[in-house]
Amino acid sequence: MTGGRFIVLEGGEGAGKTGTIAFLAAELRARGRDVVTTREPGGTPEGAALRRLLLAGEGFDWTPEAELLLMTADRAQHVARVVRPALAAGRIVISDRYAGSTLAYQGAGRGLDRELILDLHRRALNDLWPDLTLVLDVPPEIGLRRSLARLGSEGVDEGRFEGLDLDFHRRVRQSFLDLAAAAGPGARVIDATATPETVKAEALAAVLGVLG
Ligand code: TYD
Repeated sequence: MTGGRFIVLEGGEGAGKTGTIAFLAAELRARGRDVVTTREPGGTPEGAALRRLLLAGEGFDWTPEAELLLMTADRAQHVARVVRPALAAGRIVISDRYAGSTLAYQGAGRGLDRELILDLHRRALNDLWPDLTLVLDVPPEIGLRRSLARLGSEGVDEGRFEGLDLDFHRRVRQSFLDLAAAAGPGARVIDATATPETVKAEALAAVLGVLG
């Protein structure tokens, strides 16, 4: 990998990752940087098919293990086909979610063994981790309200995780905070209850910091 940089936005439901990513990409492009934005699950055509299977609110009842393997299948495809080629070409990759989401949702949320998730990550992803993770932190009470309002207005059936109880989402939130604490300078927690302008400005400052 040459000059590429891998930046990931993580956070619970309704944290505002999508708008922040669009802003970051526009700002970096305005500075002459070559940026690829992508997301998980669903960053490849194959992953988009998996996303439909994984996130539909009705009809499927995956076991936690099956869910972990499908999320990992999506990621393996995404990293091989999108992330690694872009990094090798020296591009900046900004992904909406990555392996931190698996630790948070399938690990802390569903209760799967963290070591199993990390081992799978080592074997299936060759242990690729981001250069920078931005955790957009929002209390689940607030995030879920935002997220359900958006799903309703867009009419998309992706409510599978939004439908889970508040305790699930509290464990998810704590997992992201733990991930950030463990990553030290490789992560930044941003208070996503602040105004969108403040969140975006903090995110941009952190990103410019790692780009040098
Ligand atoms: P996302 O599209 O970011 O949803 P939102 O915009 O509502 O935050 O993510 C889709 C869902 O997939 C989200 O509820 C979290 C879940 N997810 C996992 O459970 N594990 C994972 O590894 C990933 C990448 C996502």
